[in-house]
Amino acid sequence: MANQEYSVNALMADQLKFVDLATTDSITAAEVWEIIEPDLAVMLTEFYKKIQEEIETPALTHEQVKRLIPAQIEHWRKLFKFDFSTDYENSVRRVGIAHHRIDLKPQLYVAGYTLIQNYMLEKIYAHYADTPEKVFSLSLVLNKLISVDMGLALSVYQMELL
Ligand code: HEM
Repeated sequence: MANQEYSVNALMADQLKFVDLATTDSITAAEVWEIIEPDLAVMLTEFYKKIQEEIETPALTHEQVKRLIPAQIEHWRKLFKFDFSTDYENSVRRVGIAHHRIDLKPQLYVAGYTLIQNYMLEKIYAHYADTPEKVFSLSLVLNKLISVDMGLALSVYQMELL
């Protein structure tokens, strides 16, 4: 496996700094998680259904989807817990490596992220429909977190390809 030794940690530190994620954003991140988590499994069921219907990947079995939904929820939980620990780093690494292994095109991976991100934005909007400033502040933190996560997974992907 190429470049196994590179540091997700160093990349992560740069990225967190660049998007200005402040420690106080952890409170907002926890709030976002409370809003999105209840229906996330249902959303991901639809997500994998769409993938099975529209994307050429090695056929996803029912058993695989059953395993992937909780795996993905766990990954999101780590991100929104704002705990950028080795546990999270390892999870990012697994995500990048898994998608590289199945030869998922980066553009489809990014598109998949967008679907999930829009679902999250919809939930925030529905929750705070009467308080636009809350929608705005939660959305800013959501976007930062998503960009960090997606960027790191793609970096793993890219280094795997070197
Ligand atoms: C169109 C987009 C996507 C497709 C087709 C796809 C497909 C897959 C497949 C087939 C696997 C299993 C690979 C294996 O173990 O052999 C996998 C693993 C995984 N995917 Fe995706 N995925 C997509 C997007 C995403 C996104 C946006 C996330 C968000 C974080 C994600 C999170 C994960 C996680 C957490 C795993 C399990 C990694 C592990 O611990 O082994 N996937 N994906």
